[in-house]
Amino acid sequence: MRRPMVAGNWKMHGTRASVAALIKGLGKQALPGGVDVAVFPPGVYIDQAIKGLQDKKVAVGAQNCAVEQKQGALTGEVSPEQFADVGCKLVLVGHSERRQMGETNEMLNRKFAVAQAAGLVPVLCVGETLEQRQAGETLEVVGQQLGSIIEAFGVEVFAKAVIAYEPVWAIGTGLTATPQQAQDVHAAIRAQLAAKDPEVAKGVRLLYGGSVKAANAVELFGMPDIDGGLVGGASLDADEFGAICRAAGN
Ligand code: 13P
Repeated sequence: MRRPMVAGNWKMHGTRASVAALIKGLGKQALPGGVDVAVFPPGVYIDQAIKGLQDKKVAVGAQNCAVEQKQGALTGEVSPEQFADVGCKLVLVGHSERRQMGETNEMLNRKFAVAQAAGLVPVLCVGETLEQRQAGETLEVVGQQLGSIIEAFGVEVFAKAVIAYEPVWAIGTGLTATPQQAQDVHAAIRAQLAAKDPEVAKGVRLLYGGSVKAANAVELFGMPDIDGGLVGGASLDADEFGAICRAAGN
């Protein structure tokens, strides 16, 4: 069976002091042994989070990385090798907040590849906007975002990756996809992978993201193709995040 994963995307939130408080709060949580837990702090707080969480079995990841694997002349960017060097294990690729800033599938293909080459686990984020959902284009949009990686590198790369389905209209809005809406998209994602390789499809973790809270996590994580969550706002509250992690362990 797939091991559930709950990941907290802290986005551009925090100060040195609030990060210290959040780490302290996470340290008090009883985290379930059967769940992989990860956090994605802003880059400047990654080292602080890694040091503070090293005894807690909480992996730390980056929210984004450069399109180049190694170090070099790319002002303002951080390479996946550099994130790996400081102890990151994962990296988000293609969060909708970055796609909205102009990141294309072509750029994201490169980020995905260089992240894996550097030994990081990419968490590929896919999801439709409200307009696309209302136009009935959800599966087409998500299928293209996923298909871009499959066409470029083959489906086997998902043996060492995670996929997060995050409908844009549910992010930070308090509107959550119903468990059935989320399940329908997750099942389509798994079917798209299974058409190429059933074993890879069976093994890959598919996380749901979009206003996940302790109050809705049990129902969402109870769906057959939802293997955990990528949590934004609620991951900034240690007690709430701890409860969401425990919901994945049920
Ligand atoms: P919220 O949980 O705040 O809706 O954010 C979801 C998200 O974007 C996680 O990456």
